[in-house]
Amino acid sequence: MNDNLSYVEHMRLTYRPKLPATLRCPVRAVKGEPTQSVADQEAVKALFPNTYGLPELTFERDDSAMPPEKPFNVGVILSGGQAPGGHNVICGLFDGIKALNKYCRLYGFLGGPNGLVKHRYRELTEDEIEKYRNTGGFDIIGSGRTKLEKPEQFEAGLEILRELKIVALVIIGGDDSNTNAAVLAEYFEAHNAGVQVIGVPKTIDGDLKNEHVEISFGFDTATKVYSELIGNVARDCNSAKKYWHFMKLMGRSASHIALECALQTRPNYCIISEEVEAREMTLHDIAEDIANIVVKRHDMGMDYGTVLVPEGIVEFVPAMKKLIAELNDLLTNYPEVTRLRDIEQNEFVSAHLSEENRVIYDSLPDDVARQLTLDRDEHGNVMVSQIESERLLSRMVAHVLEVRAEKGEIEPIKFKTQHHFFGYEGRASFPSNFDADYCYSLGYNASHLIYVGANGYMSAITHLGRPAHEWVACGVPITMMMNIERRAGKDKPVIRKALVDLEGAPFKYFVEHREQWSVETCYVYPGPIQFFGPEELVDQTSRTLFLEQFGK
Ligand code: FBP
Repeated sequence: MNDNLSYVEHMRLTYRPKLPATLRCPVRAVKGEPTQSVADQEAVKALFPNTYGLPELTFERDDSAMPPEKPFNVGVILSGGQAPGGHNVICGLFDGIKALNKYCRLYGFLGGPNGLVKHRYRELTEDEIEKYRNTGGFDIIGSGRTKLEKPEQFEAGLEILRELKIVALVIIGGDDSNTNAAVLAEYFEAHNAGVQVIGVPKTIDGDLKNEHVEISFGFDTATKVYSELIGNVARDCNSAKKYWHFMKLMGRSASHIALECALQTRPNYCIISEEVEAREMTLHDIAEDIANIVVKRHDMGMDYGTVLVPEGIVEFVPAMKKLIAELNDLLTNYPEVTRLRDIEQNEFVSAHLSEENRVIYDSLPDDVARQLTLDRDEHGNVMVSQIESERLLSRMVAHVLEVRAEKGEIEPIKFKTQHHFFGYEGRASFPSNFDADYCYSLGYNASHLIYVGANGYMSAITHLGRPAHEWVACGVPITMMMNIERRAGKDKPVIRKALVDLEGAPFKYFVEHREQWSVETCYVYPGPIQFFGPEELVDQTSRTLFLEQFGK
């Protein structure tokens, strides 16, 4: 055994991911009906005249299908935040093109989309690929968040693609990166470049999903890692019986991660941002809600508990959302604001905001106000992972309890808190069996989409609640998922984010049980991801996927 590898890594390198039956045979593509974007059809169509309206593609076994006459070269890019299973997408793609013709070659662009623009790449050979099978992280070629949107970038990319004789580019990324993929596909089509672009749905956040993309890869593993950690904290909490633990969980916008972790661990309170928005709650309303539970548990002799906070919460509180929208425009118009020193910055921002938003901004603790004005990423996103909403909320709850005690409504309560942020811990973990199989299948399927000449499609695998050999591979036109949204002060075509469906089975299940979980101590301790053992242990899907596909 290689001394530089852990025993688990050594064992995982030998795991053989399961593939759906349709990916294990020669196939032909079957075209469905022409498609439409989810909204703003005319506007999206005008921006994608060459790739709009394409049909969905499925595959059928075809023993007469001939392998390609000549080998071809493919490029691959990892884009955005890490998600467990990215390496397996690349391994599946590699094996898929080699199965079509063993002389096909795969090039990885380094450090994300910028690697394409700056011509930084390396060939991924068999020896190289072998070292990364079933491992976490994106370190095989690295990742980045550069937005591809300018013709100069497209031309620079095309130059290197031509030089390396690459006929297809696979972009593994979230909603923003797959929007990039669609824009690039359109540009290549319009310019007759002879390069296909295929997207792969990645993000631990789980918000790149729709009728065809049942879940983005990485969600399953990341939520299992966070649930293990939450379970461990809950058990500590239930042993020491002296702290309220506020745990912030990644998930930039949607609360899929928080919801899934709540379903797995049964905390005393879990905020679902989408519900906060629907009920037009303020941060103060949330603090009051949590305080009510703290009081109830105190009356039952339990001055301890667990609270899950989705990192995107601040953007869903309606008043905060308005403030952030105005801050986004302000930062676009005055980019120098981010370079001002603490107090000067708060004063400058406060002076330039509308009356309504200024009141809210000034009421925030200085550190949180500053966290809201940090630089946006290239896609105009607020860096929510840097906003300490878990501390903000626990402070607010403490304040509510103090005020109630001062008014004599309750007796003084010991409210000792601990804060945690579980985010980066889950993004580069060894993929669960589910993600290892799913990602390998997505990559392998991308090779089929390249083989049938698809451009501007996302690789998709459906029926994920069933055993892997019954999964169905298909191709979904990316324009189908798009609508127009305001980003960095401009209207842009983007893939619509999937938020938690308040009518969906996972949320309903949570609602049915949360009252009991809040006052009683019903913690469940999921423990670490299991790789070896009986199927029911190692091949478990997420609770979200299970409830979505099978109800209770
Ligand atoms: P992607 O959408 O690129 O998959 O990234 C999601 C995410 O992990 C969020 O959950 C988190 O808010 C963000 O990335 C953190 O970004 P960074 O890695 O730039 O700190």
